[in-house]
Amino acid sequence: MMSENEVPEAEKQEFGQRALEAEIHTRWAGKHICYFKELDSTNIRAKQEADSGAVEGTLIVTDKQTAGRGRRGRSWNSPAGVNVYFTLILKPVYEPDKAAMVTLVMALAVAEGITLTCGLDAEIKWPNDVVVNGKKVCGILTEMSMEHDRIRHVVVGVGVNAGLQEFPLEIAATAASLEAECKRPVSRTALVANILEAFEKYYEGFRRELSLSGIRGKYNGRLVNRDREVRVLDPKGEFQGVARGINEAGELLVEHDDGSVTAVFAGEVSVRGIYGYTV
Ligand code: BTN
Repeated sequence: MMSENEVPEAEKQEFGQRALEAEIHTRWAGKHICYFKELDSTNIRAKQEADSGAVEGTLIVTDKQTAGRGRRGRSWNSPAGVNVYFTLILKPVYEPDKAAMVTLVMALAVAEGITLTCGLDAEIKWPNDVVVNGKKVCGILTEMSMEHDRIRHVVVGVGVNAGLQEFPLEIAATAASLEAECKRPVSRTALVANILEAFEKYYEGFRRELSLSGIRGKYNGRLVNRDREVRVLDPKGEFQGVARGINEAGELLVEHDDGSVTAVFAGEVSVRGIYGYTV
Protein backbone atom coordinates (compact mmCIF):
# COMPACT_ATOMS: atom_id res chain seq x y z
CA MET A 1 0.00 0.00 0.00
CA MET A 2 1.22 3.50 -0.79
CA SER A 3 1.41 6.09 1.95
CA GLU A 4 -0.22 9.46 1.35
CA ASN A 5 3.08 11.16 0.48
CA GLU A 6 4.30 8.50 -1.92
CA VAL A 7 4.22 9.28 -5.65
CA PRO A 8 2.63 6.79 -8.06
CA GLU A 9 5.23 5.03 -10.25
CA ALA A 10 3.61 6.38 -13.44
CA GLU A 11 4.06 9.99 -12.34
CA LYS A 12 7.68 9.37 -11.31
CA GLN A 13 8.46 8.13 -14.81
CA GLU A 14 6.44 10.83 -16.45
CA PHE A 15 8.37 13.81 -15.08
CA GLY A 16 11.82 14.15 -16.60
CA GLN A 17 13.87 15.22 -19.59
CA ARG A 18 12.16 13.07 -22.23
CA ALA A 19 8.59 13.73 -21.15
CA LEU A 20 9.20 17.46 -21.00
CA GLU A 21 10.84 17.52 -24.44
CA ALA A 22 7.92 15.58 -25.88
CA GLU A 23 5.25 17.81 -24.39
CA ILE A 24 6.62 21.36 -24.67
CA HIS A 25 5.57 22.79 -28.04
CA THR A 26 7.14 26.23 -28.10
CA ARG A 27 9.48 28.02 -30.48
CA TRP A 28 12.09 29.10 -27.92
CA ALA A 29 10.83 29.08 -24.30
CA GLY A 30 11.92 25.71 -22.93
CA LYS A 31 13.25 24.58 -26.30
CA HIS A 32 16.51 23.59 -24.61
CA ILE A 33 15.90 21.70 -21.36
CA CYS A 34 18.36 20.80 -18.59
CA TYR A 35 16.59 18.41 -16.20
CA PHE A 36 18.18 17.37 -12.89
CA LYS A 37 17.00 14.87 -10.29
CA GLU A 38 18.22 17.24 -7.60
CA LEU A 39 19.72 20.75 -7.44
CA ASP A 40 20.48 23.30 -4.77
CA SER A 41 18.30 25.83 -6.61
CA THR A 42 17.22 26.10 -10.25
CA ASN A 43 17.84 29.87 -10.07
CA ILE A 44 21.45 29.36 -8.95
CA ARG A 45 22.03 26.79 -11.70
CA ALA A 46 20.33 28.97 -14.30
CA LYS A 47 22.65 31.87 -13.49
CA GLN A 48 25.68 29.60 -13.89
CA GLU A 49 24.38 28.27 -17.21
CA ALA A 50 23.55 31.78 -18.44
CA ASP A 51 27.09 32.92 -17.57
CA SER A 52 28.49 29.96 -19.50
CA GLY A 53 26.61 30.88 -22.67
CA ALA A 54 23.19 29.18 -22.38
CA VAL A 55 20.82 30.59 -24.99
CA GLU A 56 17.60 32.51 -24.32
CA GLY A 57 14.80 30.13 -23.45
CA THR A 58 17.01 27.51 -21.79
CA LEU A 59 14.97 25.83 -19.06
CA ILE A 60 16.47 24.45 -15.86
CA VAL A 61 14.11 21.96 -14.18
CA THR A 62 14.50 19.74 -11.16
CA ASP A 63 12.50 17.27 -9.10
CA LYS A 64 13.92 18.49 -5.80
CA GLN A 65 15.78 21.53 -4.46
CA THR A 66 18.03 21.37 -1.42
CA ALA A 67 18.31 25.17 -1.14
CA GLY A 68 15.18 26.48 -2.87
CA ARG A 69 15.06 30.25 -2.59
CA GLY A 70 12.07 32.50 -2.09
CA ARG A 71 11.69 36.27 -2.21
CA ARG A 72 13.08 38.53 0.50
CA GLY A 73 15.75 35.99 1.49
CA ARG A 74 13.22 33.33 2.48
CA SER A 75 13.62 29.66 1.60
CA TRP A 76 11.22 27.74 -0.67
CA ASN A 77 10.01 24.34 0.51
CA SER A 78 11.13 21.96 -2.30
CA PRO A 79 10.61 18.23 -1.58
CA ALA A 80 11.04 15.54 -4.26
CA GLY A 81 8.37 13.90 -6.39
CA VAL A 82 5.44 16.25 -5.95
CA ASN A 83 6.03 19.81 -7.10
CA VAL A 84 7.32 21.89 -9.98
CA TYR A 85 10.58 23.87 -9.77
CA PHE A 86 11.97 25.49 -12.89
CA THR A 87 13.88 28.55 -14.05
CA LEU A 88 13.78 30.10 -17.50
CA ILE A 89 16.82 31.98 -18.83
CA LEU A 90 16.22 35.22 -20.74
CA LYS A 91 18.82 37.38 -22.48
CA PRO A 92 16.98 40.65 -23.05
CA VAL A 93 18.22 43.71 -24.89
CA TYR A 94 15.79 46.13 -23.23
CA GLU A 95 16.62 48.54 -20.41
CA PRO A 96 17.02 47.07 -16.87
CA ASP A 97 14.05 49.06 -15.53
CA LYS A 98 11.72 46.97 -17.71
CA ALA A 99 12.78 43.63 -16.21
CA ALA A 100 10.46 43.80 -13.19
CA MET A 101 7.51 43.39 -15.55
CA VAL A 102 8.70 39.92 -16.63
CA THR A 103 7.54 38.58 -13.27
CA LEU A 104 3.99 39.75 -13.94
CA VAL A 105 4.07 38.16 -17.39
CA MET A 106 5.10 34.88 -15.77
CA ALA A 107 2.39 35.18 -13.08
CA LEU A 108 -0.27 35.40 -15.76
CA ALA A 109 1.27 32.48 -17.67
CA VAL A 110 1.30 30.34 -14.51
CA ALA A 111 -2.31 31.22 -13.66
CA GLU A 112 -3.47 30.35 -17.19
CA GLY A 113 -1.32 27.19 -17.20
CA ILE A 114 -2.96 26.04 -13.97
CA THR A 115 -6.47 26.67 -15.28
CA LEU A 116 -5.72 24.84 -18.51
CA THR A 117 -4.07 21.87 -16.79
CA CYS A 118 -6.45 21.25 -13.93
CA GLY A 119 -9.47 23.52 -14.40
CA LEU A 120 -8.91 25.53 -11.23
CA ASP A 121 -9.72 29.22 -11.05
CA ALA A 122 -6.19 30.53 -10.48
CA GLU A 123 -5.94 34.15 -9.39
CA ILE A 124 -3.00 36.51 -9.01
CA LYS A 125 -2.04 38.31 -5.83
CA TRP A 126 -0.11 41.31 -7.12
CA PRO A 127 2.58 41.29 -8.20
CA ASN A 128 3.44 37.65 -8.64
CA ASP A 129 1.89 35.13 -6.27
CA VAL A 130 -0.62 32.75 -7.83
CA VAL A 131 -3.44 31.74 -5.51
CA VAL A 132 -6.27 29.23 -5.62
CA ASN A 133 -9.20 29.62 -3.22
CA GLY A 134 -7.26 32.40 -1.51
CA LYS A 135 -4.16 30.28 -0.83
CA LYS A 136 -0.74 30.55 -2.46
CA VAL A 137 0.10 27.73 -4.88
CA CYS A 138 2.98 29.38 -6.75
CA GLY A 139 5.86 31.75 -6.09
CA ILE A 140 8.08 33.45 -8.67
CA LEU A 141 11.62 34.71 -8.11
CA THR A 142 13.08 36.84 -10.89
CA GLU A 143 16.74 37.79 -10.70
CA MET A 144 18.73 40.02 -13.01
CA SER A 145 22.46 40.13 -13.67
CA MET A 146 23.98 43.38 -15.00
CA GLU A 147 27.12 44.37 -16.86
CA HIS A 148 27.99 48.05 -17.52
CA ASP A 149 24.41 49.26 -16.94
CA ARG A 150 23.03 46.68 -19.34
CA ILE A 151 21.24 43.39 -18.64
CA ARG A 152 23.48 40.35 -18.96
CA HIS A 153 20.66 37.94 -18.21
CA VAL A 154 17.36 37.58 -16.36
CA VAL A 155 16.36 34.30 -14.73
CA VAL A 156 12.71 33.67 -13.87
CA GLY A 157 12.25 30.95 -11.24
CA VAL A 158 8.87 29.34 -10.71
CA GLY A 159 7.81 27.03 -7.90
CA VAL A 160 4.34 25.47 -8.03
CA ASN A 161 2.92 23.34 -5.24
CA ALA A 162 1.42 20.67 -7.47
CA GLY A 163 0.94 17.63 -5.28
CA LEU A 164 2.22 18.57 -1.86
CA GLN A 165 -0.14 17.46 0.92
CA GLU A 166 1.59 18.68 4.07
CA PHE A 167 3.05 22.14 4.53
CA PRO A 168 5.55 23.47 7.05
CA LEU A 169 3.73 25.05 9.98
CA GLU A 170 4.71 28.64 9.15
CA ILE A 171 2.97 28.53 5.72
CA ALA A 172 0.20 26.01 6.42
CA ALA A 173 -2.47 28.70 6.80
CA THR A 174 -1.68 30.53 3.55
CA ALA A 175 -0.36 27.81 1.18
CA ALA A 176 -2.14 25.12 -0.84
CA SER A 177 -1.40 22.66 -3.63
CA LEU A 178 -3.21 22.07 -6.90
CA GLU A 179 -4.03 18.44 -6.15
CA ALA A 180 -5.39 19.32 -2.73
CA GLU A 181 -7.66 21.92 -4.33
CA CYS A 182 -8.84 20.01 -7.42
CA LYS A 183 -8.81 16.60 -5.69
CA ARG A 184 -7.28 14.65 -8.56
CA PRO A 185 -3.74 13.98 -9.85
CA VAL A 186 -2.08 16.81 -11.77
CA SER A 187 0.50 16.13 -14.50
CA ARG A 188 3.58 18.19 -13.74
CA THR A 189 4.77 17.79 -17.32
CA ALA A 190 1.54 19.18 -18.79
CA LEU A 191 1.62 22.00 -16.26
CA VAL A 192 5.16 23.09 -17.21
CA ALA A 193 4.29 22.84 -20.93
CA ASN A 194 1.12 24.91 -20.56
CA ILE A 195 2.91 27.58 -18.51
CA LEU A 196 5.74 27.91 -21.04
CA GLU A 197 3.40 28.08 -24.02
CA ALA A 198 1.47 30.91 -22.37
CA PHE A 199 4.67 32.65 -21.29
CA GLU A 200 6.18 32.58 -24.77
CA LYS A 201 3.06 34.15 -26.25
CA TYR A 202 2.73 36.91 -23.65
CA TYR A 203 6.47 37.64 -23.36
CA GLU A 204 6.74 38.24 -27.10
CA GLY A 205 4.00 40.86 -26.83
CA PHE A 206 5.69 42.46 -23.83
CA ARG A 207 9.09 42.53 -25.62
CA ARG A 208 7.54 44.24 -28.64
CA GLU A 209 5.63 46.89 -26.69
CA LEU A 210 7.97 47.11 -23.67
CA SER A 211 4.81 47.48 -21.62
CA LEU A 212 2.08 45.25 -20.22
CA SER A 213 -0.61 46.85 -22.39
CA GLY A 214 -1.27 43.57 -24.22
CA ILE A 215 -1.89 41.51 -21.06
CA ARG A 216 -3.23 44.15 -18.68
CA GLY A 217 -6.86 43.14 -19.19
CA LYS A 218 -6.20 39.44 -18.66
CA TYR A 219 -3.97 40.11 -15.64
CA ASN A 220 -6.53 42.38 -14.01
CA GLY A 221 -9.25 39.82 -14.72
CA ARG A 222 -7.38 37.39 -12.47
CA LEU A 223 -6.38 39.86 -9.78
CA VAL A 224 -7.57 38.47 -6.45
CA ASN A 225 -7.81 41.88 -4.73
CA ARG A 226 -9.45 43.75 -7.57
CA ASP A 227 -11.99 46.30 -6.32
CA ARG A 228 -11.33 45.21 -2.76
CA GLU A 229 -9.83 47.07 0.16
CA VAL A 230 -6.10 46.37 0.57
CA ARG A 231 -3.34 47.32 3.00
CA VAL A 232 -0.19 48.55 1.29
CA LEU A 233 2.84 47.72 3.42
CA ASP A 234 5.31 50.34 2.23
CA PRO A 235 8.48 50.85 4.31
CA LYS A 236 7.86 54.61 3.84
CA GLY A 237 4.39 54.33 5.41
CA GLU A 238 1.46 51.91 5.43
CA PHE A 239 -1.87 52.90 3.88
CA GLN A 240 -5.23 51.45 2.90
CA GLY A 241 -7.26 51.80 -0.28
CA VAL A 242 -9.15 49.93 -2.97
CA ALA A 243 -7.07 47.99 -5.54
CA ARG A 244 -8.20 48.94 -9.06
CA GLY A 245 -5.79 46.79 -11.12
CA ILE A 246 -2.38 47.32 -12.72
CA ASN A 247 -1.30 49.97 -15.20
CA GLU A 248 0.82 49.30 -18.28
CA ALA A 249 4.00 49.42 -16.20
CA GLY A 250 2.75 46.76 -13.81
CA GLU A 251 2.18 49.17 -10.91
CA LEU A 252 -0.86 48.51 -8.72
CA LEU A 253 -3.37 51.37 -8.79
CA VAL A 254 -4.75 51.91 -5.30
CA GLU A 255 -7.63 54.35 -4.87
CA HIS A 256 -7.87 56.40 -1.68
CA ASP A 257 -11.11 57.51 0.06
CA ASP A 258 -10.87 60.96 -1.58
CA GLY A 259 -10.74 59.39 -5.06
CA SER A 260 -7.04 60.06 -5.64
CA VAL A 261 -4.98 57.14 -6.92
CA THR A 262 -1.47 55.97 -5.97
CA ALA A 263 0.48 53.79 -8.41
CA VAL A 264 2.37 51.31 -6.22
CA PHE A 265 5.66 49.91 -7.54
CA ALA A 266 6.42 46.36 -6.39
CA GLY A 267 10.01 46.72 -5.09
CA GLU A 268 9.93 46.76 -1.31
CA VAL A 269 6.16 47.03 -1.03
CA SER A 270 3.75 44.20 -0.31
CA VAL A 271 -0.02 44.21 -0.41
CA ARG A 272 -2.38 42.31 1.86
CA GLY A 273 -6.10 41.91 2.24
CA ILE A 274 -7.61 43.77 5.16
CA TYR A 275 -8.06 40.62 7.20
CA GLY A 276 -5.27 38.39 5.95
CA TYR A 277 -3.13 37.21 3.05
CA THR A 278 -5.65 37.87 0.25
CA VAL A 279 -8.94 39.20 1.62
C1 BTN B 1 8.39 33.38 -3.43
O1 BTN B 1 8.97 33.58 -2.35
O2 BTN B 1 7.17 33.53 -3.53
C2 BTN B 1 9.17 32.97 -4.64
C3 BTN B 1 9.47 31.50 -4.64
C4 BTN B 1 10.20 31.03 -5.88
C5 BTN B 1 10.55 29.56 -5.82
C6 BTN B 1 11.13 29.06 -7.10
S1 BTN B 1 11.29 27.30 -7.12
C7 BTN B 1 12.23 27.38 -8.59
C8 BTN B 1 13.15 28.58 -8.46
N1 BTN B 1 14.38 28.20 -7.78
C9 BTN B 1 14.49 28.77 -6.59
O3 BTN B 1 15.43 28.59 -5.79
N2 BTN B 1 13.42 29.56 -6.35
C10 BTN B 1 12.51 29.57 -7.47
